Amino acid sequence: MISMKKRILTGDRPTGRLHLGHYVGSLQNRVKLQDEYDQFVMIADVQALTDNFEDPQKVRENVKELVLDYLAVGIDPSKTTILIQSMIPEIAELTVFYLNLVTLERVLRNPTVKDEIKQKGFGQNIPAGFAMYPISQAADITIFNASLVPVGEDQLPMIEQTREIVRKFNLLYGEVFIEPEALVGNVKRLPGIDGNTKMGKSLGNCIYLSDSEEELKKKVMSMYTDPNRIHSTDPGKVEGNPVFIYHDVFNPDKAEVEDLNKRYKEGKVGDVEVKEKLFIKLNDFLKPIREKRREFEGKDEILDKILKEGTEKARGVAKETMQKVRSVMKIDYFG
Ligand code: TRP
Repeated sequence: MISMKKRILTGDRPTGRLHLGHYVGSLQNRVKLQDEYDQFVMIADVQALTDNFEDPQKVRENVKELVLDYLAVGIDPSKTTILIQSMIPEIAELTVFYLNLVTLERVLRNPTVKDEIKQKGFGQNIPAGFAMYPISQAADITIFNASLVPVGEDQLPMIEQTREIVRKFNLLYGEVFIEPEALVGNVKRLPGIDGNTKMGKSLGNCIYLSDSEEELKKKVMSMYTDPNRIHSTDPGKVEGNPVFIYHDVFNPDKAEVEDLNKRYKEGKVGDVEVKEKLFIKLNDFLKPIREKRREFEGKDEILDKILKEGTEKARGVAKETMQKVRSVMKIDYFG
């Protein structure tokens, strides 16, 4: 059945489990929008291999972890098509044609790619595949005619680059593609538990959606707060204080948050109480997610079926798009 709904395409690299930053940045929107949109979610294993090509086993193992995280937060495979990038070779094909439309200089100007190159310590030895991944991401999005891409803030440069490629392609060859829009979650950036402005796998400062109650407790109790506050009677700072940022996002009891804010600023509450209250609320939030995850853990047959059916459906769409591309690019030799 052809859906008349507008399409969403988004995805994640299978390199580790998903965390609270992913939730507020993108997963929440995906769960919310899966009724209104024809949603495709991609497990971007090809992209994951651009900087994990020496460790394919890690990528392979994390494919299932991602599916489990998706199901756990409420992404419903009867509404959302979950697909594996590498099983759709048409994406690689489209990437090759897109490479002609982007200069090397433009690729290396992408601020997210720049950050990652620094962070990964590539120096002058940047793998070409890695530098080009935003172009392949443009193919991910456009091959499915997506008009909306729910992503974290760090992905905005990718969507911008995708839009540039679409404009250039359409101008050169004919109107084939839609210029997609990004959609970022309400919380632009969730800090790590160490106070770093970003929660990130490689930074080791994450609270994972699958963390056990004990792990969560340990993390919350060790969270970075106001470094200038030595005694609980010192007036504290709530602005930029991760514990209070998390309370704002994850504590639905607004009166409690307000009370803690007030007492913290007056030096009338200790860090321990603020953290214990946060732990309770975060645990309330994560408990049903953990339970849902457990329902599917080890059920490889179900997970494989979801992936296989999703990938097959997505491949059908990708093939149709490539027929149009081949036609407008004059490479549709045998009809
Ligand atoms: N680059 C994204 C990330 O690192 C993952 C991704 C791959 C993606 N292809 C995509 C996101 C297409 C949105 C659309 O999280």
